[in-house]
Amino acid sequence: MVIKDHVFLLTGASSGIGRDLMSLLLKAGAYVIAVSRSIESDDLEHERLIKRNSDLTDHESVDELFDFALRTHGRIDAFIANAGFTYYERLTEASYDHLEKIYTLNTLSIIHSAIKMKEIHGEKPFNFMATLSAVSFLSMPGYALYSGTKAALRGFMDGFRLEMEEGQHLQAVYPVATETKFFERAGQKHKPWPVQTSAHVARVMLKGLETNRKNIFPSKIFQYGYKLFPWFFKLYVRRETKVFDRIVPK
Ligand SMILES: NC(=O)c1ccc[n+]([C@@H]2O[C@H](COP(=O)([O-])OP(=O)(O)OC[C@H]3O[C@@H](n4cnc5c(N)ncnc54)[C@H](OP(=O)(O)O)[C@@H]3O)[C@@H](O)[C@H]2O)c1
Repeated sequence: MVIKDHVFLLTGASSGIGRDLMSLLLKAGAYVIAVSRSIESDDLEHERLIKRNSDLTDHESVDELFDFALRTHGRIDAFIANAGFTYYERLTEASYDHLEKIYTLNTLSIIHSAIKMKEIHGEKPFNFMATLSAVSFLSMPGYALYSGTKAALRGFMDGFRLEMEEGQHLQAVYPVATETKFFERAGQKHKPWPVQTSAHVARVMLKGLETNRKNIFPSKIFQYGYKLFPWFFKLYVRRETKVFDRIVPK
């Protein structure tokens, strides 16, 4: 797709990957509606930027966001569903609150947004990109709920893509561990390997938008290594499980 003069609705824009992608989109001449729970207090100002606070763990907020974007710009050319979070925990007790929060933000609100994009565009072109994760292929200890949210989204996107018309692009991004507030927010100091920067992930996402790629892998080590050397990743998960057992008490 062409970035310049097109309207992008970007969630999770206040930090990390979303913050870097927002800057790249503005630099490339896009109109951006940037969303998170706290983005209105961000100092960044730009004539093509509108900041909108919204908590997306509620489907009415998603509906309200669509109304807002259509009221302000009259259209949404691309929706980038990037907001997401994780817990890093041992699942020793059933906490329905955790299940509900993580699946609502990481999966349900994104599925709801993708269906709404299809609904408002009918047969006309649009792009819908979502930030999934390498753990949607390879579950990691401590991230069972999170891995599940992203794997569910992967299945949904693969299936929903089959209902798209020409010019309608559903795009899935699979970052590995990325330097952002993501791990800190989960109370986690130990990061899985390999680690990349949010600026790199954002650049790969921008390129993915420009070329309408279906599946976008910011780490070539993961993209090819996981297919060619699956035994290596099995050993790696075994090692991470030992780390998990050491740092998260039973
Ligand atoms: N970092 C990694 O290692 C990694 C790896 C693979 C995939 N990912 C995925 O990449 C995406 C971006 O994460 P990041 O690494 O950039 O983390 P981050 O720096 O923590 O950014 C998360 C963004 O989501 C927003 N957000 C969180 N909860 C929200 C809610 N309830 N409603 C609306 N916005 C909300 C946050 O802003 P507010 O707090 O202002 O709401 C923030 O802008 C996520 O989907 C994550 O799962 C990250």
